[in-house]
Amino acid sequence: MKHIDSPGQLRTSYLDFFAARGHAVIPSASLVPDRDPSVLFTTAGMHPLVPYFLGAEHPAGTRLVDYQKCVRTNDIEEVGDPTHLTFFEMLGNWSLGDYFKQDSIRWSHEFLVREDCLAIDPDRLWVTVFAGNDSVPRDEESAALWRSLGIAQDHIVFLPEEHNWWAAGPEGPCGPDTEIFVDLTGTRCPDEDAATCLPGLCGNARFFEIWNNVFMTFDRRDGVIRPLPRRNVDTGMGLERTIAVLNGAATVYETPCFAPIIDALVGKGAYPPEEIRSDAKLTRALRILSDHLRTSVFILGDRGQVSPGNQGAGYVLRRLIRRAVRYTQHLGVKASDWVATADVVVDMYGEAYPELVENRGRILAELAKEQERFAQTIERGTARLSHALAELRQSGGDTLPGDVAFQLYDTFGFPLEFTVEIAAESGVGVDTDAYRRQFALHQERSRSQAAKSGLADDSEESTRYHTATHLLHAALREVLGPHALQKGSNITKDRLRFDFSHPTAMTPEEIRRVEDLVRSWIGERIEVTHSVMPQAEARSEGAIGVFDEKYDGTVSVYRIGERSLEFCGGPHVRNTGELGHFRIVKEQSSGAGVRRIRAVLA
Ligand code: ALA
Repeated sequence: MKHIDSPGQLRTSYLDFFAARGHAVIPSASLVPDRDPSVLFTTAGMHPLVPYFLGAEHPAGTRLVDYQKCVRTNDIEEVGDPTHLTFFEMLGNWSLGDYFKQDSIRWSHEFLVREDCLAIDPDRLWVTVFAGNDSVPRDEESAALWRSLGIAQDHIVFLPEEHNWWAAGPEGPCGPDTEIFVDLTGTRCPDEDAATCLPGLCGNARFFEIWNNVFMTFDRRDGVIRPLPRRNVDTGMGLERTIAVLNGAATVYETPCFAPIIDALVGKGAYPPEEIRSDAKLTRALRILSDHLRTSVFILGDRGQVSPGNQGAGYVLRRLIRRAVRYTQHLGVKASDWVATADVVVDMYGEAYPELVENRGRILAELAKEQERFAQTIERGTARLSHALAELRQSGGDTLPGDVAFQLYDTFGFPLEFTVEIAAESGVGVDTDAYRRQFALHQERSRSQAAKSGLADDSEESTRYHTATHLLHAALREVLGPHALQKGSNITKDRLRFDFSHPTAMTPEEIRRVEDLVRSWIGERIEVTHSVMPQAEARSEGAIGVFDEKYDGTVSVYRIGERSLEFCGGPHVRNTGELGHFRIVKEQSSGAGVRRIRAVLA
């Protein structure tokens, strides 16, 4: 098998192979999906391409290839074992109604076995194919194609839906797939028989799934599966895992995707490498520090401009940073040294992801701020918790009530796992069920508040505030810089409230300049125009904001002369002259790295 010296080598080899077969190389999309509110992060290579599977025209054509940054944090607690990662890159080639099973399977095979590609021994390849169900037949076609390429009959395994049907989520494009495995040992596992020592079924690490080719031909809506207008192919190859297998590395952490980060952290810690290797707890801590750092750097360096916070993507980021900071203690790494290691990640990945280099300052500053904030939290939370534990001891109890744990979380940002750990040191348990009930109640309340505030209101007053919000957004970016992007907006008949990313309080001078700019644009009586255009065109013209893409790939944008271009469904006034007198009433914090402005029109 080919030895891979750097992630870039595999990326380039993959892109070149498919580019030579007519695929347009497209850039990695944002980690924070701007068109899908149902997920916090891009979780698979195909995710940004969903509209195109459903029928929209992709500007780059019908054959695409890319590497896509992905974040999956459902298994965050598992990170530290040999395989789980919260960030990974996925290599993918795509057919949007162009080639289908034959070329897809043929090219995958060629790329895997060719000497100048991955040079995998073809006898080591096994594949699974869809066994069929009531609505979709057994995939004999794929099996025959594999046979025609020399894959032995007994290396082709038919498996049911739970193995060989792939969907991005409960709704949306889906289809049967064929998964390609590398046999790592070449012999049946002692504790398995011939019927179970098979790819997808074997409980040991004999078979490694290297690639998944999905034949995206259906769309699931409201539980009903319907054929898509055209036949697509979606493939995914995990970059880190593939390099580990090719290089014969025991884990992804021993590959060039991690080595420089691991080396830097070990150099800053209190233990020599051999001691870490021989101690499971130290090894786990080192992996957590490396994984969470890489993920945090990619989230902070993304166009989505996420900052640590208490909700959504911001909360995931906060959790990653805080979890890592906790584990710095295990290794004797100073938290500030862990933060500084972000530079190593940016250096490693900056060429493939230039946004990391552009955002290097932001990445380091946000990490440092969150780490300091966490240090304060720990101090205050620990004091409150010690008090509660002392009270408990006095009253002879041995379980900390759930509402105390929730208060620690809600008021002090003190994570439950901390409370549990510290309480355990005093021999006290925590009523985590009661904590979870409180937490669920809290979430329910904030959700219904959010729903209420999102109610559509097309009144004349609100429409004026909509347009004023676009002007405010544009003015903020002019005065503070392009990082000042919308994080939230709430409009009533009487005022606007606008949340945006900015690390520090605005100075009175900045507030005045923003106010003056908006007023001058109102004074200029600028025409507001609406158009529907292809998403790529809107982006290339610099449109900002959250967009709601139409079925045919077009987006709705509002333009205010040269001043503002935003994705928006409207409604808006026709001319800024209709807005009247604009005044900022208040500027305040709205969470970490987010500021909030209230403004009125009189
Ligand atoms: N979308 C498929 C996956 O992520 C290729 O496995």
